Amino acid sequence: MTKVISYSSGKGGVGKTSFVANMGVLWSQQGKKVLIVDGDWSLGKMALTLGVKPQWAINDVLDGKIALREAVQGVTSHLSLLASPSGLVGYEELSESHRNQLYYELDTLKEDYDLILIDHSSGVHWGVIQFAAAAHQHVIVTTAEPTSYMDAYAIMKILSQRFKVRNFQLIVAMSQNLSETQKIIERFVDITQSHLDVRVLEIGHFSFEPKLAEALRHQKPVVSLYPNLAFTEQLLGVCKTLERLPCEKGSGLKFFYSGNINSIATR
Ligand SMILES: Nc1ncnc2c1ncn2[C@@H]1O[C@H](COP(=O)(O)OP(=O)(O)OP(=O)(O)O)[C@@H](O)[C@H]1O
Ligand SMILES: [Mg+2]
Repeated sequence: MTKVISYSSGKGGVGKTSFVANMGVLWSQQGKKVLIVDGDWSLGKMALTLGVKPQWAINDVLDGKIALREAVQGVTSHLSLLASPSGLVGYEELSESHRNQLYYELDTLKEDYDLILIDHSSGVHWGVIQFAAAAHQHVIVTTAEPTSYMDAYAIMKILSQRFKVRNFQLIVAMSQNLSETQKIIERFVDITQSHLDVRVLEIGHFSFEPKLAEALRHQKPVVSLYPNLAFTEQLLGVCKTLERLPCEKGSGLKFFYSGNINSIATR
């Protein structure tokens, strides 16, 4: 079965795109067939992070210029990308028919991939939430900054209350002081679990790693440039944890365009 994993944060600039790109590379190196979907519909940076120049992007699919299957570009033999345009006005918020079109077409690709990773834009707008809700697993990226974990809370609140998502996997990023951050995050997890009907599992806690910015300048994923870096080893551990964890019940792309989404979202 293809597993769809969504990465969201609410707050921008916390490392979502970096985590998705690098986890996609690691999984593909292990022989899994991986599709990365750049869900930052109008400010896509995944192609840049992976160091590829795609010929087509999601806007071309939505405009009917090309079928989604052909818009998917091979990055390596096991890693593919459905890119988003960067700086194109009009795709910030997808219409319901565009969203349904994407769910439907992505669902037809399912057989080709073991994993579909969706990298969302920042914000908690409807496009992010509805697309995130279609996943089997929900990775939330946050830092120890209150502005970041407040937004992470907001995403979990909406996904749990409107879409009955019950399990979240938390990645803590760019930590400057591991023990201090750990205390803040433990308290955040406790408060979240006592206020919302959710389980939040911390699956990774990453220090600030300057090599990520360096890798971006070289337009190469950091795990390819530095396979022995502590960051890379740690990220491999996160991949293994996600593989072990069960999927959210009743989820998956098909669930959405089948019409169930509207009945749940309006409850
Ligand atoms: N663990 C980290 N340590 C240091 N720098 C990091 C780390 N993770 C990401 N960065 C850097 O932070 C910047 C933002 O990262 P990234 O684009 O992955 O975040 P994002 O959450 O996807 O942002 P957006 O919300 O704008 O899409 C990049 O310059 C990246 O190199
Ligand atoms: Mg991003």
